Amino acid sequence: RTDPLVIFTPSGKRGTFPTGTRVLDAARQLGVDLDSVCGGRGICSKCQVAPSFGDFSKHGITSSPGALSEWNSVEERYKSIRGMIDGRRLGCQALIEGDVVIDVPPESQVHKQVVRKSADTRDIVLDPATRLYYVEVDAPDMHEPSGDLERLSKALAEQWDLPGTTCDLRIMQQLQPALRKGDWKVTVAVYQGNGPDEARIVHVWPGYYEGTLYGVAIDLGSTTIAAHLCDLRTGKVLASSGIMNPQIRFGEDLMSRVSYSMMNPGGAVEMTKAVRTALQALINTVAEEAAIDPALIFEAVFVANPVMHHLLLGIDPVELGQAPFALATSDSMSLLATELDLNVHPSARVYILPCIAGHVGADAAAVALSEAPHRSEDLVLIVDVGTNAEILLGNTQKVLACSSPTGPAFEGAQISSGQRAAPGAIERVEIDKVNKEPRFRVIGSDKWSDEDGFMAEAGTITGICGSGIIEAIAEMRMAGLVDPGGLIGSAAQTGTKRCVANGRTHEYVLFEGDGTSPRITVTNGDIRAIQLAKAALYAGARLLMDQMGVDEVDRVVLAGAFGAHISPKHAMVLGMIPDCDVEKVTSAGNAAGTGARIALLNVSARREVEANVRKIVKVETAVEPRFQEHFVAASNIPHATEPYTKLRK
Ligand code: FES
Repeated sequence: RTDPLVIFTPSGKRGTFPTGTRVLDAARQLGVDLDSVCGGRGICSKCQVAPSFGDFSKHGITSSPGALSEWNSVEERYKSIRGMIDGRRLGCQALIEGDVVIDVPPESQVHKQVVRKSADTRDIVLDPATRLYYVEVDAPDMHEPSGDLERLSKALAEQWDLPGTTCDLRIMQQLQPALRKGDWKVTVAVYQGNGPDEARIVHVWPGYYEGTLYGVAIDLGSTTIAAHLCDLRTGKVLASSGIMNPQIRFGEDLMSRVSYSMMNPGGAVEMTKAVRTALQALINTVAEEAAIDPALIFEAVFVANPVMHHLLLGIDPVELGQAPFALATSDSMSLLATELDLNVHPSARVYILPCIAGHVGADAAAVALSEAPHRSEDLVLIVDVGTNAEILLGNTQKVLACSSPTGPAFEGAQISSGQRAAPGAIERVEIDKVNKEPRFRVIGSDKWSDEDGFMAEAGTITGICGSGIIEAIAEMRMAGLVDPGGLIGSAAQTGTKRCVANGRTHEYVLFEGDGTSPRITVTNGDIRAIQLAKAALYAGARLLMDQMGVDEVDRVVLAGAFGAHISPKHAMVLGMIPDCDVEKVTSAGNAAGTGARIALLNVSARREVEANVRKIVKVETAVEPRFQEHFVAASNIPHATEPYTKLRK
């Protein structure tokens, strides 16, 4: 062998190359994942590599410092201006001169893995639909006339293997000054969200653009809307925020919003306007939090249930209110953000995940993308708890899905002291089984209410959120304050003065209140709202189990905006989910939101979810008589048919 052998780590890819080959070119030829925005011109520094020197006898080579060319002036200049970690080289400048082992650090990999914070079922491989490319374009030549765009497209094809790029009129209007200002060098943002055949220039900067591109993943729920602002180059979540859906004033649940639209001419338009205004405010909030200009948001991904999906798009949801629950479209959608009145980058693209069926929306598709039941050997039940619960049951053989109208109680609405999960909300509750005294924890504080300094740390207590009310009622049940039918006993019956009369029923005083914080109680009305919600959730899960022909599931995943905070034990005591070994119940956080983030950061995940949803078997709860039977049976706490046997084991 005369040519040097190059081994790249961590991929292990290897090959021989003539002396003088650039490391970047060797990497490209071997298909090694090494980033570059400037196309090897020594401008972007994204191509940094870390050569390893020493005896690599297992590979049969010795890698010595002389295996790479000396530092050149480009690297020297880069290092003196920007600094570079010791031992790093620019892959586009260093030349191969001998056998060498070269490591590609994670930040230099294009398809890097973005590890999720929550209990991971999968990592996200970064592969965004919009990317930056730096190109050098031929200057115009009178003797070979061609348009500036044609020459730019030619340069993109030659330098980046991006054939047939097109652009909007808006870009065309900016192209000529940008090319001339950059002295025929420009950075372009190119969108390829609809597959490799469509490459659309969505922005042009003169010269090299230092900055990054941003995207926002939005879970548009009936009660709450959650947004994550991500850096499309690193995949990092820079800011997350949530707000209440302002459509609540038109109806708390989906069907009441559909009725509002039926009863009020122009009602759907009004609701569309309200939600779009709120989305803009939310986007502005995350942009402000991350200190970025919203005009640098190039992509948005939405997941939503079918009614919210239609209202976002400005489609009257009236057909979704009656059988056969026809969607305007169940396919995924790719549109311009301006079509949804979003004030982000003017060429920003919006991707909306596909819906599964009339009542099972893009949010359920996002849960399927995030939790991947089709890859599970175990039979897994996934419940994404919100105003509408998305429920999936399946394994590698088959996946079933349904949606169940739980109402907004789990999100803190319809609860006397209820509120969204935000600082000040009670999120954890314990009640002593002997003296019936409560202790609780508030979002924003690590201390329990009976610990020193609790009030000072917790600040003002403002209400109780979804996970808080679930724990409170489950604890009340375990402490004997509530009977299986959901009735709170009197002080005489329960032996605690905290149970006080409230009209003809009773309520339990969780917190007496003080000068700054209100009195917080759990009323019989609260319990009723939670009973209805949890019975709907349970009935949906049982219906899927009936269809699958099983009495038990191997494991349960609890997801939802507050999924990460639901205590599996309390969910079981309440009878939210069918019996299962409590250690087989895990929380997955906001799975729909995670699905949206995956689709934002990885364009092939969009194709994956589009193919997968077609294979999911959908079960319609609204027309299934067994749903009603399960619902009635499940109203008790925990439920009529399955006392929490597994929990007692
Ligand atoms: Fe841009 Fe090397 S590829 S600096």
